[in-house]
Amino acid sequence: MARKLERGVLVVLEGIDGSGKTTQARALLRRLRRRGYRAAFFREPTRGRWGREIKRLAARADSLTPEQELDLFVRDRRENVERHLRPALEAGRIVVLDRYYFSTIAYQGAKGIDTRRIRRMNESFAVPPDLVVILDVDPRQGLARIEGRRTRDELFEREDYLVRVAEIFRGIEGRAFVHLDGRADRRAVARAIWERVRALLPPRP
Ligand code: TYD
Repeated sequence: MARKLERGVLVVLEGIDGSGKTTQARALLRRLRRRGYRAAFFREPTRGRWGREIKRLAARADSLTPEQELDLFVRDRRENVERHLRPALEAGRIVVLDRYYFSTIAYQGAKGIDTRRIRRMNESFAVPPDLVVILDVDPRQGLARIEGRRTRDELFEREDYLVRVAEIFRGIEGRAFVHLDGRADRRAVARAIWERVRALLPPRP
């Protein structure tokens, strides 16, 4: 696994589409800044060249094999780690990251790629997170939050896939992980996240 950095704190928010992680990531960032912490926000896929490529290809259904998807997400992540995460952490920032390699484990794993291989591949270069918050919601509810336009068939297909993704997320365990019920009241979820983050923070600047 990549070397743990001496400074900074890396907090990752994970969960299926519609789990509320982006809302929570932004709320956490605001809270940190209000309290005087130098905090940075990043997301994956990024808006960099590989991230844009992912977006462009994702617009065309099934234009990529699972292995090609895996390759693009990993390229995007390598760039994010080198250009954004390491520099921010080395500068002592609290980094809030909306999705990291646990999304690859869950999403590309749900397409049949061996999850241990995905993990090994990522841990050869990725900075280890200090905390990973996984927001758990029922995929049907998650989809209800974000969908509106798609046809019924597309929704069923997507729901089926997200059920598998959510299952993999639920199975990810470890010292740095916390699983929270994403259906709970938004402010209650924010408080639960804050309690975990607060325990990791250096003395206030
Ligand atoms: P998402 O966070 O929803 O980005 P945006 O808010 O810009 O749409 O991520 C886009 C999709 O990419 C989402 O469905 C999850 C998927 N994804 C993977 O399949 N593998 C990965 O490694 C990552 C980071 C995301």
